[in-house]
Amino acid sequence: MWMRLVHGDITTQNVDAVVNAANSSLLGGGGVDGAIHRRGGPAILAECRELRASRYVHGLPTGMAVATTAGDLPARWVIHTVGPVFSADEDRSELLASCYRESLRVADDLGAASVAFPAVSAGVYGWPMDDAARIAVDTVNATATRVSEVWFVLFTTTAHTSFDWALSRLNRE
Ligand code: APR
Repeated sequence: MWMRLVHGDITTQNVDAVVNAANSSLLGGGGVDGAIHRRGGPAILAECRELRASRYVHGLPTGMAVATTAGDLPARWVIHTVGPVFSADEDRSELLASCYRESLRVADDLGAASVAFPAVSAGVYGWPMDDAARIAVDTVNATATRVSEVWFVLFTTTAHTSFDWALSRLNRE
């Protein structure tokens, strides 16, 4: 498996699965979540509603991941994962790592060969970008998966710089 960076919009990525930085309601929001539902269309929300009515009546727990159709997106699937809200008092790093690990597990269940990740938790949920990048890159690198291509799709220059640093640090070790 290799990891690459893209400075752009995750909704335009032509990959098998796009990971959504969702919230536990699975019913949409802003940021990546808003963009994916806006560009992907109502089919995604319809499947999210079915998940809420069946497997996740109390919502998708933080650190977990679940797949739906990608609707009108170029991708085949959206893998929704719920990142932890950053806390200065409590170390929630393991929950953020779980988002990447569980998303890859779901991707394997789907048979997805290529997966695009956003910087989960590094927006509204306030996670410092450098640390979010380190956790993302280190976790994906350490996870056994049949996924062969991982793209980190960064929306801002700051995010791209942080992920570039995290990736280069990995290659130096
Ligand atoms: N493509 C790629 N990255 C994006 C896009 C996009 N279209 N839009 C935003 N981003 C970036 C942000 O700049 C940030 O770096 O994704 C990263 C994650 O930001 P958020 O989308 O705010 O996700 P998160 O911090 O995990 O917060 C999740 O925000 O949108 C709501 O419903 C969502 O409640 C949930 C919360």
